[in-house]
This record gives sequence, structure tokens and C-alpha cells, in this order.
Amino acid sequence: MNSSTASQQEEKASLGYGSQGLKSVAEIPEYVETRINTRLKRTRLNLVIKKSLSRPELLEKYGIAKYNLHPNYRFPDSVRDMIPSNVPEYITPPGKNYVKQIVRALYYFKQCALIGPSGTGKTHIVYFIAELTGLPIWEINCGLQTSTYDLCGRYIGLGKENWIDGQIILWCRTGGILYLDEANMMKQDIAARLNPILDTRGHIVLTEKDNEVVNRHRYGYVIISMNPFSSEFVGTKPLNAAFRRRMSVWINFDYLSVGNQISPDEIKLVQKRSGVDEDTATRIVRAGAELRRQYKAGDLPYGPSPGDLINWAVLIADGSTPLEAAEESIIGTTSDDVEIQDIVRRIIKSYFT
Ligand SMILES: Nc1ncnc2c1ncn2[C@@H]1O[C@H](COP(=O)(O)OP(=O)(O)OP(=O)(O)O)[C@@H](O)[C@H]1O
Ligand SMILES: [Mg+2]
Repeated sequence: MNSSTASQQEEKASLGYGSQGLKSVAEIPEYVETRINTRLKRTRLNLVIKKSLSRPELLEKYGIAKYNLHPNYRFPDSVRDMIPSNVPEYITPPGKNYVKQIVRALYYFKQCALIGPSGTGKTHIVYFIAELTGLPIWEINCGLQTSTYDLCGRYIGLGKENWIDGQIILWCRTGGILYLDEANMMKQDIAARLNPILDTRGHIVLTEKDNEVVNRHRYGYVIISMNPFSSEFVGTKPLNAAFRRRMSVWINFDYLSVGNQISPDEIKLVQKRSGVDEDTATRIVRAGAELRRQYKAGDLPYGPSPGDLINWAVLIADGSTPLEAAEESIIGTTSDDVEIQDIVRRIIKSYFT
């Protein structure tokens, strides 16, 4: 396989990153070892320099090389495959540097919150940052029916030796990023367990295990994310106030293109990941930007993510007409209400005549 087909395959594999759960953990970031044997006066010096190979050019590009999030600490082998790899690059809207904002917040405050509409890449950027900084991810979707047993731990039989740590406790003991997705759907009992770990106390008391006190690892970071346009999402509620206070940095996410503001980078992304021509990619992004504008105005239940636009474009590149392809992708994704589907259909038509 030549290198261009290899990179095309890699692009393909990453198509649905985030939304389809295609999280490549195939490769563990490697280290290069440089050994230098030298002599200083009469002393022999053996130097071993270990350097992470984890995309150093990107550390420079985003200006995050100076923020080392786990100096002199190598994560245990048991969690090394939880450090993501080959995450497609996150395309930043013009004038923003979310990557740096997040990494800096973690460096100084250990935790931060991401807020933005569905499909703006919040989950994607967390994986991207975990790869760049070499941190394992402990992901908890607060919208699911996860119990405190799953999160803190439990006995699986009789006898003290049969205790199993839950996700949060494993994170406390090992470090890495605790990623709480859809944090505004968090159940009260879980928020209550988390609160003491998120403030200066930095520990959790396992009442279920003889009140064992578990301290938060010195390289244990927290990122929470949520959707502000939550009225149409069942189960969301305002974020627990105690929880909100504990987040010192809030970063607002937005789409690359909305309304009349069209991002050339998003057009390029759609073109590159699907193979459609520039004119088609431009129309797709324009239609998507209009749908997003209407979603943000409260007129539509959903705004398409770049991933959704790419899916639409893939079907066009495969030979469908733009409208046929839209039926199977973007129209169904927006809603299953036929009236809303009709509104979306009309918007799309207006960009392809
Ligand atoms: N700026 C971006 N650059 C590259 N890909 C992006 C970007 N924003 C979104 N995507 C792609 O769009 C899709 C949706 O992104 P993601 O799932 O991360 O959104 P989200 O903000 O977490 O949404 P939700 O609030 O619904 O969880 C993914 O396929 C992701 O890779
Ligand atoms: Mg998400």
C-alpha cells in the first residue's frame, strides 16, 4: 500500500469520529529513546533522553508545548490503551484556539467545562487533546443510567478482598482525564459524590468501603461538556449549582459555519473527507449553515455537525444526487417528524437549484 492510499484509509476510518464511536485506540504513543554516552573530565556520562512521538508538530501549532500535564509520570500499562491515538485533527473556527484554552485550563485549574450545541465537536476535541497531551480518558455519559456502584465501586462477593473499584475511583488512583459528557443530565446522587473531588478537598470517601479516603491523583483532570439548547433533549436540566461553581473555566463552542458565515476550512474538510468537488462541498456547507442558524433560533430541533455534512457528501460522491443523498442522511438526522423533514428538504433544495 502506498502512503497516499494509507492516508486515505486513515481518513476513511476516522469519518464518523465521535458520533459513531469510532475511537481508534490501535496504537499506543511511542517514545523515541536517544542514548548519549560521553565523558566529562574523568566521569563517564550515560544519558537517555525519552521523547514522546505524539505529534509534536501539533503541540507547537496550538501553542501547548509548554503545558506538560504529567511531568515525569508514565501511566501504567493497564491504562495505556485508553490514551487515544490517530484522532483526526480538530478544525478550529477562525480566531479561536479551543485546544489551547482547554489545555491551559487543565494545567492551571485541573478542570474545565465545554458548552455548545450538538455536533460542534466537544467530544472530538477531548479525544484530540487526550492524544496530544498523552492522557488516558475515563468517559462517563451522565445521560445514561449509570449507578454510583458503577462509578465508585462495589463488592462482588463476600469478603473484603472482593471489592472492585468503579470508574471514578480508578481515575482517582491512576490519573488522566475524567470526561463527564452531558453533565447537565447528571443524577443528583452522582453529583453529590463528585462534588468533594472537584473542589479543594480533592478526595472522595468510600462510605461503602469502611470510609476509605481516596485522594484525587495529582494528574487527574476533569472535563465536563453539555448542550445549552437543551429544551428538546429529554432529561436535561440546569447544571447543579454546586457543580457549576467548581468549574473555573467555561469554553463556548460554536459551529464552523452558521448562517451567512461560511468557513472555507469546513468546505475543505467536507471535500477532503468525501471526495466531492468544491462547488458541491460549498453548497453542502451553505445548506448546513442555514440549518444550524434555524436550529440556534429554535426553529429546528437539530443542527447538522460537520460529521453529518460529510456523511451526506459521501453519498453524493458515491453517485446519488444531492437531494437523494440528503433524504438518506441529513433529512432523517434532523427529525423524524414529516413536517420538519419537509422544511429541511425545502432549505436543501434552495441550495441545489
Ligand atoms: N471542528 C471540527 N473539526 C473536525 N471535526 C469536527 C469538528 N466539529 C465536529 N466535528 C465532527 O462532527 C461530528 C460530531 O462531533 P462531536 O460528536 O464531537 O460533537 P459534540 O459537540 O460532542 O456533540 P453532542 O453535544 O451531540 O455530544 C464528529 O464526527 C466530529 O468529528
Ligand atoms: Mg458529545
